[in-house]
Amino acid sequence: MPFCIRRFQKPDFDTLWHIDQACFPPQLAYSRPELAFYMRRPGAFTLVAEANAAPATSAQANSGQANAANEPDSQNAAPTALPPILGFIVAEARRTTGHIITIDVIHAARRLGVGSALLQAAEDQLLNAGAISVALEAAINNEPAIRFYKQKGYFVEKTIRGYYSGQLDALRMVKELQGSGRI
Ligand SMILES: CC(C)(COP(=O)(O)OP(=O)(O)OC[C@H]1O[C@@H](n2cnc3c(N)ncnc32)[C@H](O)[C@@H]1OP(=O)(O)O)[C@@H](O)C(=O)NCCC(=O)NCCS
Repeated sequence: MPFCIRRFQKPDFDTLWHIDQACFPPQLAYSRPELAFYMRRPGAFTLVAEANAAPATSAQANSGQANAANEPDSQNAAPTALPPILGFIVAEARRTTGHIITIDVIHAARRLGVGSALLQAAEDQLLNAGAISVALEAAINNEPAIRFYKQKGYFVEKTIRGYYSGQLDALRMVKELQGSGRI
């Protein structure tokens, strides 16, 4: 399934908010003001995965607009039912530490490498901004996300009791970027 990773544009906001609502239970999903707040924090950036019917040109690839998925072929052609925006990531550069605020992939596009491409692009941007490690919090019962992050080289640093509204624990997960190689 061909897709590209691009920067967030203002008209994307509503779609991203709806994706976040669908990705998380009501007590964890962001309200619109919360999502806007995190996206606008100093050092924060948002990247969007967008389905792209046309294969990336070499010019796109050289400019960082590379098709992040495998080569498109007849087996992997994007199903027409998929919406244009497949997912997004919000991350934040805090001096030498990066922070993943959220990563959301629509259900229909999961296990196709979209999350991997978003995370890789964010880690690259954080590394360029001077980060040497990346941290994030994942709900202790979010097994798919914990597996995903472990597969990407994150390790569990600690459990944060009651991180989500005092109700639900989180795992703080960390990855060293320097010398860790590509995921
Ligand atoms: C977590 C999430 C971003 C992963 O996105 P994705 O596009 O499906 O991830 P990828 O296809 O790049 O998966 C890469 C690898 O991560 C692991 N992984 C991803 N989802 C997994 C799952 N549900 N169960 C087990 N392993 C999983 C696998 O090793 C996978 O490789 P494989 O498919 O070749 O086995 C996605 O499931 C999601 O948006 N979940 C809801 C929102 C969320 O929980 N975000 C994290 C908040 S902390």
